Amino acid sequence: MRFKVSVIFLLALALIVKSCSKDPVVISEEEAKPVPVTLERTSAYPPFLLPGDNPLTEEGILLGRMLFYDPIMSKDSSISCASCHKQEFAFTDGAKTSKGIRGQILGRNSMPLYNLMWNKRFFWDGRATSLKEQVLIPIQAHNEMDMNLYDLVQIFKASPRYAPMFKKAFGGDGITPVTISKALEQFLVSMVSFNAPIDQLKFRTDTLNVISASALRGLKLFLQPIEQGGADCFHCHSNMPFFGNTSFSGSLVNNGLDAVFTDKGLGSVSGLESDNGKFKIPSLRNVEVSAPYMHDGRFDNLEEVMDFYGSGIKLNSPNLDINILSHNAQLNLSTQQKEDIIEFLKTLTDQSFLTNPKFKSPF
Ligand code: HEC
Ligand code: HEC
Repeated sequence: MRFKVSVIFLLALALIVKSCSKDPVVISEEEAKPVPVTLERTSAYPPFLLPGDNPLTEEGILLGRMLFYDPIMSKDSSISCASCHKQEFAFTDGAKTSKGIRGQILGRNSMPLYNLMWNKRFFWDGRATSLKEQVLIPIQAHNEMDMNLYDLVQIFKASPRYAPMFKKAFGGDGITPVTISKALEQFLVSMVSFNAPIDQLKFRTDTLNVISASALRGLKLFLQPIEQGGADCFHCHSNMPFFGNTSFSGSLVNNGLDAVFTDKGLGSVSGLESDNGKFKIPSLRNVEVSAPYMHDGRFDNLEEVMDFYGSGIKLNSPNLDINILSHNAQLNLSTQQKEDIIEFLKTLTDQSFLTNPKFKSPF
């Protein structure tokens, strides 16, 4: 008797489960109205540059965050965006070059993810010009996540977890590559980092209680042109608030890493010889935690980076940027000067960003 009851119970359960998975997702009109999100801002922020065709909503950001952390996005469910973009490393992965699906080693170093809404070009070679375009590239790349977008749409349509989430976030727009990219764009756009010690400083003169004397000397070197005895970093990496170049045309340059290029950078995208060796100028915010450095991860730490800028620039490199070419000599930074610049770079670390629960895995 007992046996019979449990068999009937199991049968009934099986029927319920089956019918559930077949039911179309029913979401009321009210539930399908996504709640608009206003990003937090402090006075140090530049004006937001939000995507006009993709207003931020709670549901859209949450969906994007789940997609970012879910290995379901890769062909064998082994890799998520977060495998190569980890919050504690400013969303890089700590590897020289990243490892994709089936252990394949990529040719480039993972890039940090924050303040992306102000960027006009993406990837080390600038080949994507919008985040919506960018996010679909790693999903499909055979050596990264190797996922067919058509298959991915089918997976989400059949998913009791995701089908209602897409409906809530994008209503009648359904589940398409566009809504997948919009959800990811919303999450990426929400990742804003302007809360480092340097942001408290705001270039006041009463500085020493905000950053150390050494960091202050480093900041001066960073901002001063060579003729005034500075290290002239700001011409490329810019100043407050980004510490990275956000313009469309000026954001990719050759900083003299190589005289012969194994990776042509922008040149491999444009086909122009005059673009060979040009790479995206990274923002230096959170750079303390995003080692190793450069497009190929060649430098393990900031000391090696400073040795390069101090005396290792290849002055005979083709297409070397005018800011270096104009003085055509090594900076010859002293040990103290290199230390000071590194101390300054550490004042760009935003702990509240690196530990913000809003950007952690939702699983
Ligand atoms: C296998 C590792 C890997 C995976 C998985 C991966 N990325 Fe990346 N990501 C990289 C690398 C490496 C680069 C630089 C690639 C290049 O320049 O060619 C990059 C670059 C980016 C950039 C450009 C940042 C900038 O400043 O230009 C964004 C945005 C990004 N990834 C987001 C994502 C998202 C979203 C996903 C998931 C859909 C994802 N990535 C999955 C390794 C990965
Ligand atoms: C001519 C423009 C230019 C100048 C001047 C310049 N940089 Fe750079 N910097 C770049 C470019 C471009 C890259 C990326 C190069 C690559 O990966 O191929 C870079 C990369 C870096 C990185 C590695 C960041 C990462 O995420 O991998 C650091 C750190 C850095 N620069 C610090 C400095 C400092 C400090 C100075 C001043 C001493 C300086 N830069 C001067 C253009 C420049």
